[in-house]
Amino acid sequence: MPYAKIIGSGGYLPPRVVSNDELAAELATRQIETSDTWIVERTGIRQRHIADPGVSTSQLAIEASRRALEDAGVAASDVDLIIVATSTPDFVFPSTACLVQAGLGIKGGAAFDVQAVCSGFVYALATADAFVQAGRAQCALVIGAEVFSSILDWNDRSTCVLFGDGAGAVVLRASQEPGILGARLDADGSQMKILCAAGNVSHGEVVGDPFLRMDGQAVFKLAVTSLTQSAHQVCEEAGISFERIDWLVPHQANVRIINFLGRRLGVSDDKVVITVDKHANTSAASVPLALDVARRDGRIRQGDLVLMQGVGGGFTWGSVLARM
Ligand SMILES: CC(C)(COP(=O)(O)OP(=O)(O)OC[C@H]1O[C@@H](n2cnc3c(N)ncnc32)[C@H](O)[C@@H]1OP(=O)(O)O)[C@@H](O)C(=O)NCCC(=O)NCCS
Repeated sequence: MPYAKIIGSGGYLPPRVVSNDELAAELATRQIETSDTWIVERTGIRQRHIADPGVSTSQLAIEASRRALEDAGVAASDVDLIIVATSTPDFVFPSTACLVQAGLGIKGGAAFDVQAVCSGFVYALATADAFVQAGRAQCALVIGAEVFSSILDWNDRSTCVLFGDGAGAVVLRASQEPGILGARLDADGSQMKILCAAGNVSHGEVVGDPFLRMDGQAVFKLAVTSLTQSAHQVCEEAGISFERIDWLVPHQANVRIINFLGRRLGVSDDKVVITVDKHANTSAASVPLALDVARRDGRIRQGDLVLMQGVGGGFTWGSVLARM
């Protein structure tokens, strides 16, 4: 049975950078009080990228995909599977993956979206791995992409300061050399209310609340516990001792969650990739963006053992263990 190996990555962030100070000044015009000090102390976030009005998730995803294909040295026509993880699709349908397929000029092969909010990329990667291992795909494009700014309530300071927009992508190729070594996905739908955007479009109207709502403290606690457990489970199932991991690439929601997780797992800070300071929480895009940053700056190298982890709405969480 072949492995699915990550042979390239790419990221794209919309050019508009909004610092905490700029955001605080903008919120102040509506009598909403926040500050750079509060945001940095509680989250580690210093800035975020925000897409201009009219810019869609598929546009960000196509750009990240082009960069990943170029990095992998793979022609778009070789791709026979596209999975896009997103909670901010361009349309109700068709899927954002179909729009990406058309944008890249690819015809044929499966293209579909995965909805697991901030765990979306690890869910999509584990799915693509299963396709490749089963011989149902040879070359997959796995993308996490979001315009999360479009579902934020900009009058709610407890959520609007936390998120940003962006896209990250990887190319997976069937290989005899070890690639993805294990994956573990979990969900607990009974916790749906602690993080949700519980609205939909029906009969031409928005029904319910289309904005992201969150119980921050409940999410914080559940994120640390579930990711700690998931990290041990995926290693145990793959028969790999946890100490052999070279890099932890966790979901980038809050630097305090990441630090807690690192301490619980006994991973030293220099083995943890952090981008939340510059990107904020880009939901499904955060893990592939962080992976791409660390591959391109030379930290993550060929042969390294990398643990990627996602956690978010649903409630969902998951881990993918990969030999680069
Ligand atoms: C959201 C989060 C940063 C809030 O931090 P916290 O330490 O739990 O803060 P609290 O919610 O207890 O709020 C503390 C105070 O800060 C205030 N506050 C909230 N947002 C604020 C902001 N942007 N600026 C200033 N003050 C703010 C609250 O109103 C509250 O004020 P009060 O004490 O007068 O009532 C934190 O809970 C968190 O990161 N949770 C995880 C969220 C997450 O990562 N979600 C995505 C997962 S995929």
